[in-house]
Amino acid sequence: MLDEHWGYITDVTRQQRLEQAILRVVKPEDVVADVGCGAGILGLLCLRAGAGFVHGIDSTAILEVARETFLRAGWSQRIQLHRAKSQQVSLPERVDVLICDHVGYFGFDYGIVEFFTDARRRFLKPGGQMIPSKINLQLAPVESPACVALVDKWAQENVPPEYRWVRQYGVSTKHAVHLKKDEILGEPVDLGSIDFRDDHPDFFSWQAELVVRRDGQFHGLGGWFDCELTQGVWMTNSPIAEHPIDRSQVFLPISEPVSVFRGEKIRAKIMARPTDSVIMWEVEFVASGRKFSHSTWQGMLLSADELVQQSPMHIPMLSDKGRARLLVLGYCDGLRTAKQIESAVLRDHPNLFPSAAETTRFVAQVLAGDTH
Ligand SMILES: C[S@@+](CC[C@H](N)C(=O)[O-])C[C@H]1O[C@@H](n2cnc3c(N)ncnc32)[C@H](O)[C@@H]1O
Repeated sequence: MLDEHWGYITDVTRQQRLEQAILRVVKPEDVVADVGCGAGILGLLCLRAGAGFVHGIDSTAILEVARETFLRAGWSQRIQLHRAKSQQVSLPERVDVLICDHVGYFGFDYGIVEFFTDARRRFLKPGGQMIPSKINLQLAPVESPACVALVDKWAQENVPPEYRWVRQYGVSTKHAVHLKKDEILGEPVDLGSIDFRDDHPDFFSWQAELVVRRDGQFHGLGGWFDCELTQGVWMTNSPIAEHPIDRSQVFLPISEPVSVFRGEKIRAKIMARPTDSVIMWEVEFVASGRKFSHSTWQGMLLSADELVQQSPMHIPMLSDKGRARLLVLGYCDGLRTAKQIESAVLRDHPNLFPSAAETTRFVAQVLAGDTH
């Protein structure tokens, strides 16, 4: 986790663009919500720019780095940190500015639509500002042996033959890659745009026509974003940009390479349900009529039981683990200590798990997750 956040903080281009946007948007004494604040860098830049108060929200332990950093830098009186999913947080006031960098490799694929829409509705004052304000999605045809190697990993010689079928999951996966300029087979096209100031349906469907610029092998689609932080300030992870931020792009493969020629047209359709991370992609080669269709849904490792559970008509029954959880929580009476609860569970239910060590671990886990 520290490595991930080190990556964000040391990305000079990202930092410069976000700081530029903050200096344009944040006014003296503004109240800011930094949603998915990580180590707190965006909130810190807002305070330096004159913000009066920052609410930092993050669901992970990196928030403790933010807390200590604000304390050491002398800002602790001007921040309040909330450790939870932002959708579960209530703020004591509405804010002037919402900020986040939750922009995925393909812009929408890291939950920003749901996350930022909820924050706009519940945290932002009418007329408040949002950084970022919008993303434009870009798509291009890709020829990349490196991407193919990633997709075909499970079909390699050194994989025991019995396992090579697992390649089919690789084909139905959105891969995070670092595309090189010369791997782009044709001009990128605008696929669609998402303005965070507007409401959106749960399901997106975009279409584009790609034109191949040189003869080659089509291996799949490359996707990335142009993100408007505020009017006139943009950041991108485009592999052909002069100054991209340090963020992967997505590669959406097709099941086998297809030879293409200069000037050939390829129709692409991308459908996405960002709330449950499902992306579908269809590719049609106009000249030959060949079509490919893939979906990350086909790449999910779901058991038959899990599939049944997805049905809204499924009647849920408590599992053994669910019963065990209820039992542990039943001992939380506001008087017993964690140690007393653990002892009571071990005494009254010696066979809850195959070993006492596992029961102890489970009790600690339930108490950490469901109590405060
Ligand atoms: C891409 S990082 C950006 C961190 C920081 N804002 C920065 O610019 O360096 C996104 C952060 O959002 C947090 N996050 C993701 N989903 C969240 C949610 N639903 N509620 C709160 N935090 C979330 C992650 O834990 C992660 O720290």
